Amino acid sequence: MCPPAHFRVTYSINPWMDPEKPVDIPLAVAQWEELRDRYRALGHVVEELEPVPGLPDMVYAANGATVVDGRVLGARFAHRERADEAAAHRDWYRANGFTDVQEPEHINEGEGDFAVTDTWLLAGRGFRSSPLSHGEVQEFFGRPVIGLDLVDPRYYHLDTALCVLGGDDVMYYPPAFSPGSRAVLARLFPDALVASAQDAEALGLNAVSDGQHVMLPQAAVGLLEPLRERGYEPVPVDLTELLKGGGSVKCVTAELRPAA
Ligand code: ARG
Repeated sequence: MCPPAHFRVTYSINPWMDPEKPVDIPLAVAQWEELRDRYRALGHVVEELEPVPGLPDMVYAANGATVVDGRVLGARFAHRERADEAAAHRDWYRANGFTDVQEPEHINEGEGDFAVTDTWLLAGRGFRSSPLSHGEVQEFFGRPVIGLDLVDPRYYHLDTALCVLGGDDVMYYPPAFSPGSRAVLARLFPDALVASAQDAEALGLNAVSDGQHVMLPQAAVGLLEPLRERGYEPVPVDLTELLKGGGSVKCVTAELRPAA
């Protein structure tokens, strides 16, 4: 995770961002610390990446790389405003014991568009990550990639519309996907938790699950009961200031999947 010390909304690269709307930085920091402390209270190790002045979106750490089996595929950002974040992430991994760190050839925004289930690597495209990155990520990790077309600009990253709950269990918002991709999701995940428009608009799918606890934006109240019914323990968190940049729980959390 990367503290939002330099978080600002000074440009707009997704429909959630309005540079006219003020951001309360101390509140953003307090909300972010609350999420970090919750992870720690649940027994998870949280590493902190040093924020860089002039990179206001760096708080969305999930976009900086993808880590599977302890191997790291770096990011290449679609927008110039975020381009310099990629090197900061790669440097962090190299300095922290990750020996296999690759700079990608094609545009990919890390876990913003790549989601890992036990069987598949789900990959979003349409707004940020290039379709060419899907071949690259499959080749690098040796995991079967399922390409999914995103069609609604509010759900510009896969992780705004789909969340892996554990194993091959997911929750998602079908209207964020093209008809063909919806059919693919229905075929792969016939028992998935399907989110309402209201919960999707609260960025409720931008959640992080450890297989038991599901940390999610607190306004996504419609997801609480369905999650409990499936045996998960929802943990609502307030990240409203970070919503102003178009992200929530998952966007600010990069998962360090170790080698088995
Ligand atoms: N302002 C950032 C952007 O538009 C938000 C990124 C959110 N991150 C995410 N994993 N969806 O790039």
